[in-house]
Amino acid sequence: MCGIIAHIGEDSALSPLITGLEKLEYRGYDSAGVAVKNGSGLDVWKCSGRVSDLKNSIDDVETKANLGIGHTRWSTHGPPTDTNAHPHTDVSERVAVVHNGIVENYERIKEILIGEGYEFTSDTDTEVIPNLVSYYLDRGNEPVAAFQHTIEDLEGSYAIAAVIDGNDSIYAARQGSPLVLGVGDDEYYLASDVPAFLDHTDEVVYLEDGDMVEVMTDGVTIVDENDQLVQREIEQVDWQPDETGKGQYDHFMIKEIHTQPTSLQKTIEGRLDPDEGTTDLDVDMDLSDIDSVHLVGCGTSYHAALFGASLLNRCDVSARAIRASEYDLNTGTPSENALFIAVTQSGETADTLGALRRANDAGVDTIAVTNVVQSTAAREADEPLYIRAGPEIGVAATKTFSSQAVMLTLLGQHISSVNADASRVDNLDQLVSDLQELPDAVEQTLQTSDAARLAKKYLDNDSYFFIGRGLGCSVAKEGALKFKEITYEHAEGFASGELKHGPLALVTEETPVFAICADDCEKTVTNAKEAQTRGAPIVAVSPPSHAIADTADEHLYVPEMHPVCSNLLANVQLQLLSYHCATELDRAIDKPRNLAKSVTVE
Ligand code: G6P
Repeated sequence: MCGIIAHIGEDSALSPLITGLEKLEYRGYDSAGVAVKNGSGLDVWKCSGRVSDLKNSIDDVETKANLGIGHTRWSTHGPPTDTNAHPHTDVSERVAVVHNGIVENYERIKEILIGEGYEFTSDTDTEVIPNLVSYYLDRGNEPVAAFQHTIEDLEGSYAIAAVIDGNDSIYAARQGSPLVLGVGDDEYYLASDVPAFLDHTDEVVYLEDGDMVEVMTDGVTIVDENDQLVQREIEQVDWQPDETGKGQYDHFMIKEIHTQPTSLQKTIEGRLDPDEGTTDLDVDMDLSDIDSVHLVGCGTSYHAALFGASLLNRCDVSARAIRASEYDLNTGTPSENALFIAVTQSGETADTLGALRRANDAGVDTIAVTNVVQSTAAREADEPLYIRAGPEIGVAATKTFSSQAVMLTLLGQHISSVNADASRVDNLDQLVSDLQELPDAVEQTLQTSDAARLAKKYLDNDSYFFIGRGLGCSVAKEGALKFKEITYEHAEGFASGELKHGPLALVTEETPVFAICADDCEKTVTNAKEAQTRGAPIVAVSPPSHAIADTADEHLYVPEMHPVCSNLLANVQLQLLSYHCATELDRAIDKPRNLAKSVTVE
């Protein structure tokens, strides 16, 4: 995915464009660029590399241009070179465009335009857009009509913003990729995500698919997919500007790890009923006769789905966690009474949206467990359930995993309480009171963790294994994913019982094994011993009183709580471990090599 921003106001656009791009860099960071409209044409600056490289290259530029667009790229069509960086222009630099998404029919359009004498310089699909606008301008269309005809010709998914020389508007369109309008005092923003302009305004309009927008200094017009002029509601977001900065921390990731007491508090707020010893989740959907549940996600969200499925199965609800990219291949037709749950932090991941759309087409009830209000998943599912974790900027997901897992716990409890065939959640009283205590317990774990020391001790190894059973298995897989994402070291997460069925062949004294024993799981102790016998150092991630603690060489302790909570605390320990290892290795923690925060291509 990529990040786009546009700004129009009374003052120079350059500074808000650059700060906006810095906030959007989590969406892609292999090249960046801006275009502004000055008195006598368009100025375009772009380069491969980070937004900081772009910023350095234009540090001494002074411009009064009050209107412009910007882009930070995660490359799909063409390598991350200066030429492929956005904004793209037609050859005369009359039109400049930034784009997030894919133009599927770009080859055909390019061929036609080349036939008409238009010239192309990049490998991107995007470059057809400014050339197409130019084509329509050349045929006598007004700018707004030229942009509209262009949009009508495009197939695929996109959020686009364009500026045209000699014209005082920004033109934008949304189809399948996010685009939010920020409404300030005498100024407007368009961006892929709210943090891009949250320092300036918290008033937003979530644009709909099919919307085409013209933004001027004194107003906005929105035309919907049926060519009708529409007014869209202005909403106020409840994120604070300081949530989108690093504050006192070196990296967003460690800030977000440390924010978990607050983010979890928000997730559970108003959703527990401690007096009755139960949960109180507001679900506007009859789940009394569902007979199966598909929980679908990618990456970290898939691991949260595994966590949720494991809990539902404990309540005798037939539940499967399925990787979104495998949904059509590995799932038969869902039963009429199935429930589909899309688990997605961003609500924009293409694989997850693809699976959600198939479930919607099959006519089953769908829920999106997501962090981003009005994201595509939130809009397309029958019901969104917001995890309220606040903005997550670090590419490696941390606080949102914890909040997703808690949200799925609440949903699982809701299903088990209304569904005739389900059994009750084990130790519900304890679960409710421990969930209330969870924010404090996370704080305590953060304060006392020994992860920084263990990171130094185990830095120089061949491979890192994480093992666990049940809920602990999803934590093991998430622990390994976090580790490889940000350290670039080889790590694997296994169901602990599987270790002896193959992976044990890889075990040596150079493969530390992190055994997650946050709840009763005596068999994991046996599995850990099997690895220890082959020389592997064992790190117990467990309460001090667990049997694994006697066997282990080192410990990352968690308090004894309901298994949901103790497993989530084990995950916090592993987040810290990954972070400290990556710091020791001097990795690009918030922007790991080759990764993007959410991937909007299948
Ligand atoms: C990308 C990110 C992962 C994330 C996954 C799913 O691969 O690098 O960290 O877990 O997308 O993202 P989502 O927004 O759907 O949770």
